[in-house]
Amino acid sequence: MLLTRVNSGLDGVVVADTAMSEVDGESGRLIVRGAAIETLVATRGFEGVAALLWDGQAEGGGDEAAVRRGLGAARRAAFERVPRLLAASAGLTPVEALRVGLAMLPDAEPMPHHFAVCGALPVFLAALLRAPDAAPVAPDPSLTTAQDLLRMLRGRRAEPAFEQALDAYLATVADHGFNASTFTARVVASTRAGLVSSVLAALCALKGPLHGGAPGPVLDMLDEIGEPSRAEAWFDAAFANGTTLMGFGHRIYKVRDPRADVLKAAVATLPATAGRLSFAAAVEQGAIAALRRHKPGRRLDTNVEYYTALLLEALEIPRAAFTALFAVGRAAGWCAHVFEQERGGRIIRPQSNYVGPRP
Ligand code: ACO
Repeated sequence: MLLTRVNSGLDGVVVADTAMSEVDGESGRLIVRGAAIETLVATRGFEGVAALLWDGQAEGGGDEAAVRRGLGAARRAAFERVPRLLAASAGLTPVEALRVGLAMLPDAEPMPHHFAVCGALPVFLAALLRAPDAAPVAPDPSLTTAQDLLRMLRGRRAEPAFEQALDAYLATVADHGFNASTFTARVVASTRAGLVSSVLAALCALKGPLHGGAPGPVLDMLDEIGEPSRAEAWFDAAFANGTTLMGFGHRIYKVRDPRADVLKAAVATLPATAGRLSFAAAVEQGAIAALRRHKPGRRLDTNVEYYTALLLEALEIPRAAFTALFAVGRAAGWCAHVFEQERGGRIIRPQSNYVGPRP
């Protein structure tokens, strides 16, 4: 029996009310708990956005200083797990290894779970990126997540401009409606599996190149193009081969993703990025023109991942670690959605349309 027309991508399907964030794809606007993303990033750091997302939902909610303390203590606790993580994750990519790290955390952690999860991710990531050549650097709980992450990566504090740029990145990507990974977290949370399990599932969804795995390939694309004059031919060949242009297109945004501009501005604050930035801006214009030519009427524009790639490259983060770093910021939003789902949501259980043989 045919139930209904299948909507395999769930386009336009509304499955919940949420007070976390609104993605307005027609006007290119993102609101996180009442504030426009541009204002939020200009006025609050990552811990401030996390406090906002957790406000009224979990310990530290609404209190930036308490979030900073909670995350600092959680980073210190997570560091004790690093030897086991390194032993278990040899040969894995950074995001695969983060999967191992999260799997090591019990759902019934003694410390509040959102702190445990969001504190562990930067500690694990820094240690994984230093291994096997350099020993892990212990966290400094007095710092912010961005400051401490760069310090644990480099073995010394980064320049303030770099710390601020990473902080802006983490705040920018902290939440974004019912994207694939957040929806995954909510599906798992809807079974009451627990916060760590829900976030681990979300990380697995983020990993794919159509979602959080796009920024590494953005840089590969820029490297292949090499100079702006080669862009048009490169894009035409890409469309002829059926290649997807990474960093462009979005299920919800039909205009430019507002986070692209926030991140582009953050890249511009960093020393010695001017050349790469103007090259990337020229290639971006070429890509949009090619999308208009080859996909007329589809309304495809730049998404967050394009300037994420430029920003993380400027921060000297290895491209293999871009998706894992995205998870460090997005985990704040995943936790917020898990709390919201656990408070009121029913088990998420859609239907399928059986097309196989019948007895
Ligand atoms: N390059 C070339 N063509 C594209 C692109 C692109 N980046 N994006 C969409 N299209 C085309 C599709 O091929 C399709 O064409 P068709 O109708 O002729 O078959 C049409 O535009 C509609 O695209 P869909 O794939 O139906 O759009 P959907 O909403 O399902 O996918 C997605 C959205 C996955 C983001 C897609 O645009 C894409 O693959 N982009 C590149 C990967 C990327 O940058 N991902 C990061 C997204 S942001 C984030 O998740 C954090």
